[in-house]
Amino acid sequence: MKVIGVSGSPIKNSNTDRAVKAVLEATGLETEFVKLFDYTIAPCKACLGCVKTNRCVIKDDGIEMAEKVKAADALVVGGFTPYSSLDARTKAFLERLYPLRHRNGFLRGKPVAAVVTSATPQGVEGLPPAADMGVNAIQFAAMEEGMDFVGSVVMAGNVPCVKCQFREECPMNGIKMIHGPEATLESVGISCFEDQETVVKSTQELGRAIREKLLA
Ligand SMILES: Cc1cc2nc3c(=O)[nH]c(=O)nc-3n(C[C@H](O)[C@H](O)[C@H](O)COP(=O)(O)O)c2cc1C
Repeated sequence: MKVIGVSGSPIKNSNTDRAVKAVLEATGLETEFVKLFDYTIAPCKACLGCVKTNRCVIKDDGIEMAEKVKAADALVVGGFTPYSSLDARTKAFLERLYPLRHRNGFLRGKPVAAVVTSATPQGVEGLPPAADMGVNAIQFAAMEEGMDFVGSVVMAGNVPCVKCQFREECPMNGIKMIHGPEATLESVGISCFEDQETVVKSTQELGRAIREKLLA
């Protein structure tokens, strides 16, 4: 049994990466972690060039990714939420699973789980439901391919502004945009996967749920 986990986060060893790896580890099965940033994956161009062959005609790494997912017994998809929706790398990765669908439904019944990192806190009035948008994008894509959605983990991340030298003088400072005009990096702090106890626990539960599905 092999579980593949992908992360769409471009940041090296990011929160998203580490949370995906935690889910993989908790499966106790053979796993492979894929950093999408290391590959070139264009979005689907809706040419239907894959309907007869179940293979994409775009000559990039999207073909290898689809083959990896087809060969795996389960999939963990990790993304983040720029502009309150699923990031483009993860979205393109999902779109490039489309060739596996036609006539064979190669993804049908395959367990899939979502890990989403979002800088916008959940459930705050006036703020977009970024994390929900990210999870929905993964869950609905999986649903449309007949996959078995096992569950999701949502975690707090950081706006890129936390690393910017112009943070305090910038009128578009994301920290203030999200947390209010008085907020500073010091008052808000840096969000780290390992410090979010409930989230860490949820990644372990998700990994175990995938294992149970596969060994049932
Ligand atoms: C261009 C850009 C726009 C972003 N916009 C949002 C946003 O609208 N809402 C949000 O929750 N996070 C936003 N983020 C922050 C990401 O969700 C955040 O960087 C995420 O925590 C990254 O996770 P990582 O640490 O795993 O890489 C944005 C990030 C980038 C790069």
